[in-house]
Amino acid sequence: MKSLNWNKECLTLLNQTRLPMSVEFIECKDWRVVAEAIRRLEVRGAPAIGAAAAFGLVLGACELKDQKGDFWQKLLLVAEELRQTRPTAVNLFWAIDRMMSVASRFSADNSLSEVIEALEKEALAIANEDREVNKKISQYGATLFNQPGMSVLTHCNAGALATVDFGTALGVIRQAWSEKRIKRVFADETRPLLQGARLTAWELMQENIPVTLITDNMAGWVMKQNMVQAVIVGADRITLNGDVANKIGTYSVAVLAREHNIPFYVAAPVSTFDFAMDTGDDIPIEERNSQEITTFGGVSCAPEGVDVFNPAFDVTPNHLVSAIITEFGILKAPYHQAISQLKQQKGGK
Ligand code: MRU
Repeated sequence: MKSLNWNKECLTLLNQTRLPMSVEFIECKDWRVVAEAIRRLEVRGAPAIGAAAAFGLVLGACELKDQKGDFWQKLLLVAEELRQTRPTAVNLFWAIDRMMSVASRFSADNSLSEVIEALEKEALAIANEDREVNKKISQYGATLFNQPGMSVLTHCNAGALATVDFGTALGVIRQAWSEKRIKRVFADETRPLLQGARLTAWELMQENIPVTLITDNMAGWVMKQNMVQAVIVGADRITLNGDVANKIGTYSVAVLAREHNIPFYVAAPVSTFDFAMDTGDDIPIEERNSQEITTFGGVSCAPEGVDVFNPAFDVTPNHLVSAIITEFGILKAPYHQAISQLKQQKGGK
């Protein structure tokens, strides 16, 4: 099941807020619908929102082509609106920057059709590269699971749904499972929006990979009982020093893993690294609507008017991270050195 698909000026998104109860699609022919889908988490996961935003820009350019006024100025506004949809996953900004850098190669001498064609080509490249990148991450990552019959715990959903295809952390799990390196996955349900219960469990069950669902507050006990031998998660932003922003609850899992001497791995593409940010202290953490916590399935589960804190992400400090798996190999501490090298290799800003 693909998270998104582009076909003739229409971006089709698998509506992830409806899974696993029903499989529904959203047809986006207007960039505003894409922006709204990102905001509502109908498409979610760092690489998937980057790719969706790239296609959103193509839709914006198509619309502006037939309008009066300055195409370039208006395209910048569309890009800005798309940037505003979610603040934490750097892949969103990476994809939009990549698209705008393609647009900036053109001038008034070029036809707008040429610009749109180039933008569409770039968005497709972003989407197509994602699958290849995830395959490489998965191959590197699987080698870390080197004792037969391991069980692994994951948090949130870093699978095919969170990317264009295959997944990062779940990609590694898929690969390790196919190589018989792991025997079972423990999926944290991932409060408050249940990406683990609704999406990870669903994705793994589709492929008959044994998965056991637990609530987030069970992770420590599962570790204490020696039921998992490794943790692997995805990331929304990794800073130069190796701090990792990921779904809220990831930090707690990393602390628990350290206490139980269990390796804590992060799987992420280079597009998730923020080479311009030194430490995780500077990562903007999205805060979402209080109703995500005060209601459950639309039913109120907290006193009306209660004060709520609802950060959607947290930052795991680098000293709790055993390794970061990228498409260029496995990074280990000292991360500043390893990530600076990666930055040089990739010419990152
Ligand atoms: O709020 P979400 O569902 O977009 O959060 C997603 C995550 O935290 C994922 O773990 C992360 O984006 C990595 S996806 C490969």
